[in-house]
Amino acid sequence: MVDVVLGAFYGDEGKGKIIDYLSKDSKYAVRFSGGNNAGHSIEVNGKKFAFHLVPSGILNKDVKAILGNGVVIDPKVLIEEINNLKENGYTVDNLYISDKAHLILPYHIELDGMLEDIRKERKIGTTKRGIGPAYSDKFERSGIRMEDFISSNFKKLLKINIENKNVILKVYGYEQMDFDKIYKEYKEYSKILKPYICDTTTMLHKAIKNGEKILCEGAQATLLDIDFGTYPYVTSSNPTIGGVCTGTGIGSRYINDVYGVIKAYSSRVGEGPYVTELNDEIGDKIRELGHEYGTTTKRPRRCGWLDLVALNYAIMLNGITGIALNHLDTIGKLDKIKLCVAYDYKGKREEYFSTNLDFFE
Ligand code: IMP
Repeated sequence: MVDVVLGAFYGDEGKGKIIDYLSKDSKYAVRFSGGNNAGHSIEVNGKKFAFHLVPSGILNKDVKAILGNGVVIDPKVLIEEINNLKENGYTVDNLYISDKAHLILPYHIELDGMLEDIRKERKIGTTKRGIGPAYSDKFERSGIRMEDFISSNFKKLLKINIENKNVILKVYGYEQMDFDKIYKEYKEYSKILKPYICDTTTMLHKAIKNGEKILCEGAQATLLDIDFGTYPYVTSSNPTIGGVCTGTGIGSRYINDVYGVIKAYSSRVGEGPYVTELNDEIGDKIRELGHEYGTTTKRPRRCGWLDLVALNYAIMLNGITGIALNHLDTIGKLDKIKLCVAYDYKGKREEYFSTNLDFFE
């Protein structure tokens, strides 16, 4: 009943296109992890949409598009996306937001930048969208959930959090957050988003009972997973298969097909090791041919050959049942292409992926 599309490498594999295709016979499109660090570009009838938060399946009006509890939501960005969709003739009444999803607030964004600065040479190269600090608050249990956002508790919770964050920001000499200003602005956002907020887990279980097809849309990718990626050069959530269960409330027994999306070459944004990276004119050529510039941050992506060792790891971890291979036409423009089939580690052939940084580097 439940199919999953997820990234098998470092993200930007072209999941949006595959999701759009597969959602044609789905009744639900569900995002389960990440936030607006993601970027899905989809072209429909000549119009290009760049989504960061809303599920790509939203463009199909027969699909209920859900932001699951595992997603972290910047309300400002979400409202911009809703408005953009409305301006383009979409009603957006097929959007549902989990009451358990956590908020990204201005102090998370400020802290994301601050943490990058104080990490010095251990900088991660985050998207600076507040993702890590929002998940930190969730797990530290001071996060604000959607159900709090639309309740009378919001003011009190926001005040406590801003007071606490201001202490940290002051220590490092960063700008203080203004509670009154933020509360006023975000109270308005909560009114706009209120109609979309509900118990999406129960909704999904009703759908499963009714035999309706659900498509879970991964954001980021396997090698950026907080547990299984190249830690610490990862995102702060689980874009791998386990994230589907914890980020939606759907049990693993309902999961059927798991599609791993890859490109016929590879790319990565941000810092961290990348074995098949090409720091030469072939890498530059791939970047230009594949338009490898970030949807979210516009950063040029690092490019290289397809790494089959990493792909095997992704297949193993996620129980991938099918591969969607994008950009074959792009790589086909080169005279010669290479594939990584094993690593050469201290003169020894290694066919297994390890996230150990010493090994990787
Ligand atoms: P964060 O998720 O903004 O904290 O960034 C952590 C790392 O994940 C950085 O290297 C980002 O470039 C990378 N990252 C986050 N989201 C995406 C994505 O959607 N595609 C590719 N890389 C991403």
